[in-house]
Amino acid sequence: MIQDDLYFFKKWFSDYCRSFYSSDIEDQKNISLKEEHTFFVCKNIILISQELSLSKEQIMLAEVVALFHDIGRFPQYAQYKTFRDSISVNHGLLGAETLRKENILKALPDSEQELIIQSVKFHNAFSVPKKEEKNIVFFIQLIRDADKLDIWRVFLEFYESPHESKASAVSLGLPDTPEYSEDVLSCIYRKEIVSLGRIKTLNDFKLLQLSWIFDLNFKPSFQLLVERDYIAKIISNLPKTDEIYNASVFLMEFVQRRVKGLYFKNPLLP
Ligand SMILES: [Fe+2]
Repeated sequence: MIQDDLYFFKKWFSDYCRSFYSSDIEDQKNISLKEEHTFFVCKNIILISQELSLSKEQIMLAEVVALFHDIGRFPQYAQYKTFRDSISVNHGLLGAETLRKENILKALPDSEQELIIQSVKFHNAFSVPKKEEKNIVFFIQLIRDADKLDIWRVFLEFYESPHESKASAVSLGLPDTPEYSEDVLSCIYRKEIVSLGRIKTLNDFKLLQLSWIFDLNFKPSFQLLVERDYIAKIISNLPKTDEIYNASVFLMEFVQRRVKGLYFKNPLLP
């Protein structure tokens, strides 16, 4: 891939987004949210890739994966008016299909097209498919980290913004009541990612977001997480109980160990 390909993809993406713009304020808010999210995920993936000392070429590929990772969100929202995959479509799969259908990547070598399409397809899978080729698994891990780092930003803005300016599709319509589930807390202590099926309240959903730290792959991602203080910020939006406090200590200790202990070199280097 050359720099001109990247320019072409960026222009294509912004035209594509614009084709979904709506005069309905609510719909427009939700579409803009995804367009803006994409922009920040691109920034995150570049930061992580640079820290991992990837080559210029690999960083461009990573940026294209980030640019297209949520492309399925636009047709998803247009058709179903929701970002909830469970009641509409899997937006990773839809994104991969969209890339193929529109033949956007046609200028790239087959191996790069496949890498981008598979990374988009699995960016939102519950876990990373280990069967894929090593190179593809690596880019899937990259996009998952870059994506999570920005989803934390989106949610924090949502929790902290006044009701009128909230993009409605963010909270998945969950009840904002003081409860949280024991079951969800126990997942955290087992260092498991909480599945959406267990979620009953918005507080459970906040705990689910915290559990994503167990699925972060790279040391630079943990560093960004710490720099941005996302854990403490999400915790501050949860009820102030001893249980939540203890869970927060557990999570912070896990992150500290990752930041200190792990060293990930670029696995693509010989
Ligand atoms: Fe996504």
